[in-house]
Amino acid sequence: MKKKKSKGLKEKDTIEETKGSSPESRRTFLNKLWKGLAILAGVEFTAVIFGFLFSGKGERKSYTPKQLIEAGPVNSFEPNTVTVFRGGRFYLTRLEDGGFIALSLRCTHLGCSIEWEEDKKRFICPCHSSAFTMNGDVQNPPAPKALDYYPITIDKGIIKVDVGTKVERERFSKNQIVYV
Ligand code: FES
Repeated sequence: MKKKKSKGLKEKDTIEETKGSSPESRRTFLNKLWKGLAILAGVEFTAVIFGFLFSGKGERKSYTPKQLIEAGPVNSFEPNTVTVFRGGRFYLTRLEDGGFIALSLRCTHLGCSIEWEEDKKRFICPCHSSAFTMNGDVQNPPAPKALDYYPITIDKGIIKVDVGTKVERERFSKNQIVYV
């Protein structure tokens, strides 16, 4: 009887020994897991920050079938001018420094068609008087963000606007301008 008990004790001791080493290895494992997760979170956070800084500041593109419209030769557009392409539903702006941007005609408030005011060098919306600068930035609310724009390519001196790809943006940024 005594012998049996001591045998039982021995077995119990062995089990406790096994259990005793387990929490420590579990702790080590959890520590490693937390460190791994912290590194992963750090990498993701850095990726988000870099994405925000270098991917056009929160721009969003929407696509319909690619539709290139030839706007004309570069030299036919003077610096500091705006030309309307009603069929393509865009304005082609050539800024003072010679750069181009193709702006959507659609107001970013509720979608009315904006008009170009040559004397004031600005776009104005007839619906609720939002105003936009030559590069499409908001000058006067209620429009919540800059005018959408379309990608431009310059092929052998000819300007082509892809009206199948609309780029939404919060505000104007220099990287939205295309130079010859
Ligand atoms: S729709 Fe243009 S300001 Fe309201």
